[in-house]
Amino acid sequence: MIEQQLLMIPGPTNIPWKVLQAMAKPIINHRGDEFHRLYDEIQEGLKYIFRTKNDVLPLTASGTGAAECAVYNFVNEDSKVLIPVNGEFAERLAVSVERVGGKPIRMGIPYGEAPTVENVKAALELERDIDSFFLVHNETSTGVTARDLKEIAGLCRKKGILVVVDAISDLCGEDIENDEWGVNVCFTASQKCLAAPPGLSLISIDEDAWKRIAKRKSRTFYFDLARIRGYHERRETPYTPSVPLFYALDEALKIVREESYEQRIERHKICGQALYSAIDAFGLKVFPKDVRYRSNTVLVIRVPGEIDNDRLRRTMRERHGVVVADGMGKLKGETFRIGSMGTVSRRELILTVSALGYALGQQGLRTNVGSALIAIESVLH
Ligand SMILES: Cc1ncc(COP(=O)(O)O)c(C=O)c1O
Repeated sequence: MIEQQLLMIPGPTNIPWKVLQAMAKPIINHRGDEFHRLYDEIQEGLKYIFRTKNDVLPLTASGTGAAECAVYNFVNEDSKVLIPVNGEFAERLAVSVERVGGKPIRMGIPYGEAPTVENVKAALELERDIDSFFLVHNETSTGVTARDLKEIAGLCRKKGILVVVDAISDLCGEDIENDEWGVNVCFTASQKCLAAPPGLSLISIDEDAWKRIAKRKSRTFYFDLARIRGYHERRETPYTPSVPLFYALDEALKIVREESYEQRIERHKICGQALYSAIDAFGLKVFPKDVRYRSNTVLVIRVPGEIDNDRLRRTMRERHGVVVADGMGKLKGETFRIGSMGTVSRRELILTVSALGYALGQQGLRTNVGSALIAIESVLH
């Protein structure tokens, strides 16, 4: 029996009991009326969280599946794709583009910084014939959110450039108004801010993006969006969906509706800010410098030179059952990451910060857990 831990990693996150229990319902025929009803309910919830009137397609695949789906369907051979590369996930997108024969134009942005409307504008002036713009909205490896998305999307659309957004680690935790801002394609995954189990990804596609698909022959079978849309119209998926995960997603979306989208975004913001203030009270340094672009859902924190990162995380896990993540890619070892997503509230923050303060103390770093907790409370109030 695995003991329940407090998962403060950047996904998967802690799942409410109601969502877990939903998975124990009987399996139904995915070509029958009960499934159609389930699909309709999920569709309504997805439109609500994606802030869109467009189709949102659920894929039985982890987040990378949706990223791959977007790349296969929207990147033609030799087409130029502008990608701000400020972390591991943005680099993965660039590699996926290369694999399908596209030409990624990498905007090199120092890790810890965000693409801004000014530097996207400059890149577009430098490079002609850009076909699409792929953006990781919340770079999970560096803890940076591209908060200029609205302006950047507006700029791209004026030039007829397709805007594709990876919002895997912040959709429903950071406001992304897809329709209002003119984002053509956006995708996320079930195991992050939605607080559902891992295994589903969700992708929204607007009419302009569908028009592009209509003009071309698909190079993928599983992720062939035209085929998926055909089944979507009958409220089905072309291939066997993970029915238990669909039940769980349905329940998770209901919980979002009960809380309301706006409240959920606000809660993520407040919890993120409260954690930053506790980190500050401990005298630790956050990896991204510019406060405006610091992520509310993934905090990347530098490990002080005298602290053993593995031991720090191990102490938190073994002593208090709190799990935080190592840094990722280039930042592995020198940073650790706290996921503040999904069900996060006062209780999770207090436990995490207490465990962190204790674990730092175990390695001789003098911390004042009391003032960190007061810092949290003052933000929560
Ligand atoms: C921004 C971003 N993109 C893509 C992925 C990949 O998602 P998955 O691991 O669900 O395939 C992640 C996962 O953490 C992510 O944070």
